[in-house]
Amino acid sequence: MGAFLDSVPFSGIIRIRDMMYGVDKPFRLDQGDVSFDAPDTVKQALIQAVHDNRSHYVQTTGIPPLVSAVAAKMRSKNGIPIGNDEEVMVTAGGIHGVYVATQGLLEPGDEVIFPDPLWPPAAGCIQAAHAVPVPCPLRESLGWRWDLDELERAVTPKTRAIYINSPNNPAGGVLTRADLEGIAAIAQRHDLWVFSDEAYEDVVFEGEHVSIASFPGMYERTIPIYTFSKSYAMTGLRLAYLAVKDPAVRDRVRKVLFYTVSSVSSLVQYGGLGGVVGDQSVVEQFRTELGARRDLFYDGIRDAARGILTGDKPAGAFYAFLRIADDWTPPKGAADSRSWAMTEMLISRGRVGCIPGVDFGANGENHIRFCFARDRKELEGALESIKAVFRG
Ligand SMILES: Cc1ncc(COP(=O)(O)O)c(C=O)c1O
Repeated sequence: MGAFLDSVPFSGIIRIRDMMYGVDKPFRLDQGDVSFDAPDTVKQALIQAVHDNRSHYVQTTGIPPLVSAVAAKMRSKNGIPIGNDEEVMVTAGGIHGVYVATQGLLEPGDEVIFPDPLWPPAAGCIQAAHAVPVPCPLRESLGWRWDLDELERAVTPKTRAIYINSPNNPAGGVLTRADLEGIAAIAQRHDLWVFSDEAYEDVVFEGEHVSIASFPGMYERTIPIYTFSKSYAMTGLRLAYLAVKDPAVRDRVRKVLFYTVSSVSSLVQYGGLGGVVGDQSVVEQFRTELGARRDLFYDGIRDAARGILTGDKPAGAFYAFLRIADDWTPPKGAADSRSWAMTEMLISRGRVGCIPGVDFGANGENHIRFCFARDRKELEGALESIKAVFRG
């Protein structure tokens, strides 16, 4: 790795986070973190694990009760034909899941087609595996979904895999069952793998969440990846899981898991177990509240941004990915990128954290992302502040 890592970019999200630490009384709509706290089922299980002295080494792929619980969940909720619990591995958050999966599957020079725009660490992990991320634009006119003909045209003899992320961060597009059937057909026609990043499976407002790994013959060539971060408000606890059917690839992924963390924190795994086996109504409560915050934010931004920031409500995830009007003139001396210019203006003049669309890919330029999973007061404060900036 060494010097090779110089060619792997850092996410602009980190640059924004550092900028936000210097802002007094900021509105943190930049980070993809929910304002909810982890449910009591998680907290009680964590506390119990402390009392039970669960502080020793545990299995690399996860403590057996958690592995069994998430395997059962993937079978029943996601319809994935997990055969043996051994196919499942627990990771230190979704980003680690993406890292171990890409390191375990990819060869140097393999091309991986991925959606543009997309959460930047996905492309970073592909690059860190010495593979080549190949962006394929999501079309705003299609509700931020792929044109599948365009997707298939991006396939070359070097293509090894397609990275899908539905619901999508940052644009909120949700792939339909027909989209996923089309992607599955492309994968089968060209003998490709699929990384299926389902981090936002529980945050769907319109349509349904379907795992491509549930389709006939697809689990064999798909690595589905899930996280506790969004569904159980456990972003800081770092817990996620994935499944790999192919024994050779699974062994490689397991080695990367071992050499990066040995195992995920024992306490955190017990906490997550409490979440999965406990009352699931909290997941639906989160989704309902996020839907209300989505409406609040979109109703507010119409008035606050006076046509300068516009866009349709997302079908899933918890981000507003808004288009910057062509007739908006950036302040003098602003960055060349219009989305960076808008971001810097809203942070410096309005104290409102947001992320430039170009950070998610070239197709995201001229857009800006706000996270509406913050609490209502923070959203209202941010909207007032945005309004003042645009009036000014
Ligand atoms: C698309 C996507 N995948 C995966 C993740 C991973 O989240 P975590 O590492 O917190 O589990 C995120 C987090 O924002 C995400 O947006």
